[in-house]
Amino acid sequence: MKMLTYLASCLMAASGAGALMLGALKASRITVGAFDFNYNGLQVTKYNKSTTVQCATRVLANVNATPVFCVTSAQECWLTNATFPAGYDNSSAAGALPHKCYTTIKPLFDKAAALAACGGNPSGCCPAPFENVTNVGCVFTSFWFFPMLPFDVARAFCKGMWPTGDLYSRPGGTIDFTALNTYLDRMGVVLDVWVGATMVGVGQFAWPDGSAVGSSNYGSVLIVPQPDLTGFPAGGPAGCLLVMRTYGNQKLGDDYCIKPVNYLCHIP
Ligand SMILES: *[C@@H]1O[C@H](CO)[C@@H](O)[C@H](O)[C@H]1NC(C)=O
Ligand SMILES: *[C@@H]1O[C@H](CO)[C@@H](O)[C@H](O)[C@H]1NC(C)=O
Ligand SMILES: *[C@@H]1O[C@H](CO)[C@@H](O)[C@H](O)[C@H]1NC(C)=O
Ligand SMILES: *[C@@H]1O[C@H](CO)[C@@H](O)[C@H](O)[C@H]1NC(C)=O
Repeated sequence: MKMLTYLASCLMAASGAGALMLGALKASRITVGAFDFNYNGLQVTKYNKSTTVQCATRVLANVNATPVFCVTSAQECWLTNATFPAGYDNSSAAGALPHKCYTTIKPLFDKAAALAACGGNPSGCCPAPFENVTNVGCVFTSFWFFPMLPFDVARAFCKGMWPTGDLYSRPGGTIDFTALNTYLDRMGVVLDVWVGATMVGVGQFAWPDGSAVGSSNYGSVLIVPQPDLTGFPAGGPAGCLLVMRTYGNQKLGDDYCIKPVNYLCHIP
């Protein structure tokens, strides 16, 4: 139901999001495709022959302007102003680069350490930066640190954060929108956020476990009840659900899955 720029609709698989120290720099390994550096006019500064730690040291000179760096197979050091989050993994895309790439963009969620703290059992744990929010569940979002993403990519990103992670879902119930919107406000997320429901029939949406999204979860945009089978601007089909923070009444509405928006990750 609302408009933002088209980014990309390719599915990516977000995997390991562990943080590591490279010299004095804390960074997370990411896997990028060749195309990732060619869109949005990213600036890529290249240096000759460097080890990973030497390359990381160059980043320290201007970490805000060059949060992502790579050491190529030819041992070149590439510094870029890209904003790929920890856990970014585009290895399934054609043209994946064989380079060792890292991001310093926070949160540098140390998944391995968090799993160890959960005794290796990912169920029943709510590791930081996830938060066990009353009447909402174990969730995490960040307007500040996460780039807006199309639905599929956002979903892969949430799945990559934790073995049982996914976009937010509330099978068989009504979402407590007061509690949920209070959490989103507190996290500074003022725009729409994807939740984990997709269209399974015309105007019918289901959570990842296959259960139907209860009608009490839907909001409206002015007087137009949701889902209205369209996004903004009008067109179709609008196959994914989001919390309508921008134009709706802060409940669920449908929108185009390819639209990059914020998203709510969840450990059910
Ligand atoms: C991944 O790589 C593909 C192909 O190189 C590209 O089209 C896409 O935009 C990249 N990013 C994501 C998030 O899929
Ligand atoms: C990266 O730098 C280039 C050149 O200065 C600029 O055009 C581009 O918008 C920047 N991208 C980001 C994501 O900051
Ligand atoms: C990098 O190496 C190439 C080829 O050896 C050389 O021509 C170039 O001047 C070097 N660049 C820098 C910045 O040292
Ligand atoms: C979250 O908090 C609720 C109580 O509000 C508790 O019952 C539940 O076990 C907690 N879940 C986790 C994963 O900590």
